[in-house]
Amino acid sequence: MKTILWATLTANGNYARNASPEHPPKQEAFSDFLDQVKAAGNFIVGRRTFESFQAGGESPFGDVDIVVISKSVKDIPGIKVVASPQAALAYLQEKGHTTALLSGGADLHNAFLQQGLVDEILFPIAPVLEGKGYNILLNQDHYQYKDIQLLDFKSLGGGVVRLHYAIGRE
Ligand SMILES: NC(=O)c1ccc[n+]([C@@H]2O[C@H](COP(=O)([O-])OP(=O)(O)OC[C@H]3O[C@@H](n4cnc5c(N)ncnc54)[C@H](OP(=O)(O)O)[C@@H]3O)[C@@H](O)[C@H]2O)c1
Repeated sequence: MKTILWATLTANGNYARNASPEHPPKQEAFSDFLDQVKAAGNFIVGRRTFESFQAGGESPFGDVDIVVISKSVKDIPGIKVVASPQAALAYLQEKGHTTALLSGGADLHNAFLQQGLVDEILFPIAPVLEGKGYNILLNQDHYQYKDIQLLDFKSLGGGVVRLHYAIGRE
């Protein structure tokens, strides 16, 4: 199972919050996310980000497998809920998927990265700056360094540039 981490960053390297109605995700980045969802046929999402998707009203995702990761919530009608990254991947594999898309938020991405479960990264870089915020980290505890391979880059329009990397699993 190939896992792709998809995360919009700010120009100064934060994991973009997109947390308020005044500062929604850039449309070009969100369209790219929808394209990736369509290509993978699924996405894995942290409980908090999933709740923010639900708050947006009608789902724009169509008929795809959505897997929510949560320890506190056990059941969401019509949605698969699991308690760990491994369980999410096992579920999608069992359903015949060959690629899993990680859609956020920060906690979810960092859990997959820390456990060495990411094969590729898609980073749309939005033309915004933020103050103190979220970060995508190899681990939360200590300094760590890893070379990764740039596969390609693409302008998505609206000043958003998407970087695509491969990460070797150890
Ligand atoms: N820049 C982007 O591309 C992008 C994309 C999506 C979201 N966001 C932003 O990200 C922010 C939300 O991120 P967040 O880090 O606060 O929340 P999150 O990752 O969406 O959700 C965190 C929750 O997911 C569950 N979870 C995460 N890792 C887990 C693990 N290893 N095992 C079991 N459960 C796990 C836990 O749920 P329980 O507490 O229920 O146990 C945890 O509290 C928002 O501001 C949103 O707008 C940005």
